[in-house]
Amino acid sequence: MKRKSIILLGAVIIVAGIFITGCEKKEKYDYLVLVNKYSKLPDDWEKNVKLVTTKNAWKEDIKIEKEAFSQYKELKKALEKEGVTIELDSVYRSVKEQQKLWDDWTKEKGIDYVKKYVAVPGYSEHHTGLAVDICLRKGKKLVAENDDMIADRKTFAKIHKKIADYGFILRYLENRDDITGYSYEPWHLRYVGSKKIAKEIMDKNITFEEYLGKIKDVKGTPEAAKYQIEKALQKYFKKAYKDLIKDARFNVEKIYSKKEEKDPLIKSLKLGDKDVAFEVEYQLLPEDDIDLNLLITANGEYDKKLGWVVDVHRVGVLKYNSKNDSYSITEFGTGF
Ligand code: DAL
Ligand code: ZN
Repeated sequence: MKRKSIILLGAVIIVAGIFITGCEKKEKYDYLVLVNKYSKLPDDWEKNVKLVTTKNAWKEDIKIEKEAFSQYKELKKALEKEGVTIELDSVYRSVKEQQKLWDDWTKEKGIDYVKKYVAVPGYSEHHTGLAVDICLRKGKKLVAENDDMIADRKTFAKIHKKIADYGFILRYLENRDDITGYSYEPWHLRYVGSKKIAKEIMDKNITFEEYLGKIKDVKGTPEAAKYQIEKALQKYFKKAYKDLIKDARFNVEKIYSKKEEKDPLIKSLKLGDKDVAFEVEYQLLPEDDIDLNLLITANGEYDKKLGWVVDVHRVGVLKYNSKNDSYSITEFGTGF
């Protein structure tokens, strides 16, 4: 080849190299992406994810992010050496598939259960291809029901001890639903792309939100406020109607923050920056053989068909306590 051609070829290779490296950088997958009740999967996120197809425990085709899959296979091998066999259940789910799951589970288990365990379509980590729901194979038996897996503490303890070595974390820790928004899910592992980061999170026993320093952001959104209100109301009602109710459920209809002080009522409440006032419709499931009048206010009534006391449009204040970074109901109903 002539000298000139060699120089030209060299230049072409260098330019192509820069171009390819540039493209790779642009397409690099952000393994630390936060998707939760309050952080939607970024738009057009899914076009960057490299999914591979494999089979789940029922031999159905499923998709999983490429790197997460190769690490999953290593994890599976390591666990097998300890006598534990894991299988894949659900991994990547499109927004449409999540919607179907939401609808099916609502029919089967009811909306309250669904809110604890299933993400609103668009807000599921499963859209990333990095959230891996596993199940257990025990001899010929497959353990895949939520309650059965939650009960199998011994096996899951073994699994959770190993996952960080392969870049996975336990995403929904026990009793941390105030931060994650979901109940304990021992089966839901999340690939974070780094063994070091996974180890740090698992060793410290912290949520992904805490690792990313995103708790305050989570609590600062209206959706988060709604979640905190419902949680605080549960506590409030259990205390106020101790021995009178079996259960309480809520539908928070409106939330007012300090910003909405144009309304004289809201102004009179003197809300702090992180406090909110709210309007709620609630339902109480009475204990057997109690005097229902103890539960029924001027706005309320007993719905015979439903078997619950239904009350509408009550107002309350959720106050933030900076000392222990928690919220509680300070005023409710008749106070204003
Ligand atoms: N089960 C988790 C929360 C999801 O549906 O994404
Ligand atoms: Zn999951």
